[in-house]
Amino acid sequence: MKVEGELFVVTGGAGGIGKAVVRTIVAQKGHAVIFDLNAPFGQALAEELGEKNAFFPGSVDCTDEAQVENALDLALKHFEGVTLAGAIVCHGVLFPPPSLTGYGPNGMLTNYKQFEFYIKVNLLGCYLVAQKVAEKLIKNDPFNEDKERGVIITTTSISALDGMMVGYGTAKAGVAGLSRPLALELAPHGIRVMSIAPGPFDTPILDPFPEGSPPCPFPKRIGKPQEFADLCLSIINNAMLNGSVIRLDGAFRFTDYATKD
Ligand SMILES: NC(=O)c1ccc[n+]([C@@H]2O[C@H](COP(=O)([O-])OP(=O)(O)OC[C@H]3O[C@@H](n4cnc5c(N)ncnc54)[C@H](O)[C@@H]3O)[C@@H](O)[C@H]2O)c1
Repeated sequence: MKVEGELFVVTGGAGGIGKAVVRTIVAQKGHAVIFDLNAPFGQALAEELGEKNAFFPGSVDCTDEAQVENALDLALKHFEGVTLAGAIVCHGVLFPPPSLTGYGPNGMLTNYKQFEFYIKVNLLGCYLVAQKVAEKLIKNDPFNEDKERGVIITTTSISALDGMMVGYGTAKAGVAGLSRPLALELAPHGIRVMSIAPGPFDTPILDPFPEGSPPCPFPKRIGKPQEFADLCLSIINNAMLNGSVIRLDGAFRFTDYATKD
């Protein structure tokens, strides 16, 4: 499949990684619709890129079925005549809101409300967008001789694959686990599903850590959002990439930094 001339939903499109994905789609002459809670950032990005290239339908909560459906309808109307070709699901939360405190010493253990929050935003919100987009994609005329009708790319995390972080990691493990079953379910309809598991990437999600993240073994730095966007392009272009999870982490292993006591 290709990006040029096609429309993609980018959730978290106003955030660090999602913004790079939106810019890259537009640079490849594709069109992007930004699903994000952050209205000022989403609006500013759409205005910067131009309404023929990028559209912000207003603040969208990816955990709210009616909002996602409405935003999708607005996007299809805005880009009338352009085919929806996929979704890159990048939205996510690393911390629950401060109002949801944990239990145990210093409130550092994960309570049920926090766990529920992670599952809702990072896992259910991911499936909500994937499913609503897939429902449109199955109606597409095939794009090519493989009869591809679309592609869905989700964002998990190495914390899922390395077995770290009760709420965040478990929700992201669900996202990783979704790749193959969803790819198999959608295979008869020519829709591929892939997931990317980033290591530490230089985005606002890491702002709460003033000391930053340790660098990857090599390259000796953390990831750049553009590197995530470049992998999305490779996935979109390569029909054999389907049903799996790609680590994008410069050999970083979360477990190397786990407490040993
Ligand atoms: N940056 C990293 O180190 C890193 C590492 C591993 C995985 N990830 C994952 O990459 C993805 C992108 O994160 P980022 O680093 O760009 O962070 P970010 O905080 O810059 O962007 C996340 C975006 O998601 C949006 N968002 C949050 N909840 C939402 C909701 N319910 N509905 C709609 N939008 C919502 C936020 O407004 C924000 O713009 C996330 O899924 C994150 O978990 C990031």
